[in-house]
Amino acid sequence: MSNELIDKLNSKIEYAEKALNAATCDAEIENMRVEMIGRNGFIPAISAEMKNIPPQDKPEFGKAFNVAKNKIEALLEEAKERLKAQDRKKSEKFFDVTLPGRKWALGGKHPVSKVIDDCVAIFRRMGFIVAEGPEVETVYHNFDALNTPSDHPSRDPQDTFYFGDGRLLRTQTSTVQIRYMEKNEPPVRIISPGRCFRRDTPDATHSMNFHQIEGLYIDKNVSMADLKSTLLYFGRELMGEDTQIRMRPHFFPFTEPSVECDFSCIMCEGKGCRVCKYSGWLEIAGAGMVNPNVLKNVGYDPEKWSGYAFGMGIERIAMIRYRINDIRFLYENDMRFLEQF
Ligand code: DAH
Repeated sequence: MSNELIDKLNSKIEYAEKALNAATCDAEIENMRVEMIGRNGFIPAISAEMKNIPPQDKPEFGKAFNVAKNKIEALLEEAKERLKAQDRKKSEKFFDVTLPGRKWALGGKHPVSKVIDDCVAIFRRMGFIVAEGPEVETVYHNFDALNTPSDHPSRDPQDTFYFGDGRLLRTQTSTVQIRYMEKNEPPVRIISPGRCFRRDTPDATHSMNFHQIEGLYIDKNVSMADLKSTLLYFGRELMGEDTQIRMRPHFFPFTEPSVECDFSCIMCEGKGCRVCKYSGWLEIAGAGMVNPNVLKNVGYDPEKWSGYAFGMGIERIAMIRYRINDIRFLYENDMRFLEQF
């Protein structure tokens, strides 16, 4: 009786082994699992017959039964692994290496940010550090401390955005000169890039919101020659080594003497073109020797210290450099425009 059962076990295992080795999908394996070890399957049925076996045959049959049960479980596991490995191979095989890669849309720097970064890098090489100040300013820092009297036209509400509490949106980055000197002793070598605001009507060259970069150098025995060499070096680094500069007398309340500094036109190299309005020169910076009144306002002794300051518009430089003919493009956030830089 037990020999008969053992034969039955062995032939069933053989049958299962064949079927599982030939299985080509998970469903076939699952069917075999149900048939062999499922609740109403072969193994539980044989196990139920155990009680009819004579006691002396039980150990031998029990052993054979355990071997058979383990074997079937192993065969099921093997078959599953084999199918998985086949699937993996298949998907490797169907990987199409000729498909174009997926492009990640990388963000780029805005032309205004690019110009700021380049200017900062140039001045850093000359030993300037970056200082920052608030965009919402006091009238004192924006005007009074910069020696700009109360009857100066730039203080007119027509030109400047005031808040109810008397503060304003700064009209220039020169405010940072005052803020930095109030907190630090000379010598001073700072540049300050940042956003400014004026009540301008937007057109091709005006925007209510724009950027400047301000420079301030305070030390002993600073002269116009230092200012000129700094601006010349800056111009050549930014616009090319053949760049020339010229200074024209001008007026700013916070510098004395004051100048406008022009760079030779990069488009026509000074010959004259539409960009430079046929003058050969591009007006880039306002500058001058810091007015002694400004030094007094921050508690510096003008007999001991002197210095120069300059300020320039970032958008103007970006427009020249990238040949942009309308400042409004810089603020419209149109990707078709921005993607060109
Ligand atoms: N703040 C001036 C403006 O907005 C630019 C400027 C001129 C800044 C001369 C300076 C300077 O520091 O010395 O037009």
